[in-house]
Amino acid sequence: MNHPIRLAFIGAGNMSSAMIGGLLACPDSPFVLGLSSRTKEKCTPFAARGVTVFDDNLAALDWADFLVLAVKPQQYADVLTPMAEHGVHGHKVFVSIAAGISTSAVSTMLGANVPVVRAMPNTPMLLGLGSTAVSRNSAVTDEEYALAQKIFSASGLVMDLPEDKMNAVIAATGSSPAYLYLIIKAIYDEARAQGVDAPTLLDGICQMTAGAAQMIRDSGDDPDTLIRRVCSPGGTTERAMQVLYDKDLPGILARAMRACTARAEELGAKYK
Ligand SMILES: NC(=O)c1ccc[n+]([C@@H]2O[C@H](COP(=O)([O-])OP(=O)(O)OC[C@H]3O[C@@H](n4cnc5c(N)ncnc54)[C@H](OP(=O)(O)O)[C@@H]3O)[C@@H](O)[C@H]2O)c1
Repeated sequence: MNHPIRLAFIGAGNMSSAMIGGLLACPDSPFVLGLSSRTKEKCTPFAARGVTVFDDNLAALDWADFLVLAVKPQQYADVLTPMAEHGVHGHKVFVSIAAGISTSAVSTMLGANVPVVRAMPNTPMLLGLGSTAVSRNSAVTDEEYALAQKIFSASGLVMDLPEDKMNAVIAATGSSPAYLYLIIKAIYDEARAQGVDAPTLLDGICQMTAGAAQMIRDSGDDPDTLIRRVCSPGGTTERAMQVLYDKDLPGILARAMRACTARAEELGAKYK
């Protein structure tokens, strides 16, 4: 593949802003960037940062080596039908980030057996702390797959998965920031109910959450060992954990994750 590689985004929304921001800040990015979006004014700030802005999606398609489809699932047909009519000229890799839409659905909508990488990023990507799962169809070469992963590693971690796990991973890293927001909110609300009212209370709880995650990553101990280490016999944490186990917090989270995966399957069924 020739260098630099032309990477265009369709859609100037939250996720493409995060990806473009990550790539522009990445000193060894192999890409030059392009962008096309429905509301043209949203592209202006990117043009000022050196991104080539196109008047329409088809011009971006013709220019690009890699094309990221960063629109909502229900907007896919509006984007891909004109591309199918126009034709995909030359070799291009499509990168789809929509929940539930398979690589084969993208090929079918384009009416061509094109290379498609499917990715599931999450919103912490906006801060460069994303976790993105990626998979590919058989038309994507190893070199192209490595390049596609660089799009996401510029703003976080990348996990390579078989495509049949792309719905299940939404429950683990895509939707799961919301579970933690709920847990943080519940801890905050109860601390306030118990009269803890420091202006930095929420910051403190967030710092505790980040610190606990860092302990799992850096201490070399698994979560069960770390739990045991905090639970002195007869102590306060042990008493709290008893309530969480009695109410089956792990089982509640497992049920939530199964519901999440089932919903991704339902959404995907529409685009088969
Ligand atoms: N947000 C998340 O947490 C998250 C996580 C993982 C994956 N995703 C996936 O990422 C994708 C993008 O999500 P997002 O949150 O970035 O959405 P978003 O903020 O709504 O951005 C979508 C962008 O696409 C533009 N657009 C819509 N139709 C278009 C068309 N026909 N041609 C060109 N541009 C068009 C929209 O233009 P307007 O400005 O005119 O509306 C908007 O700028 C979705 O498929 C979503 O499922 C999102």
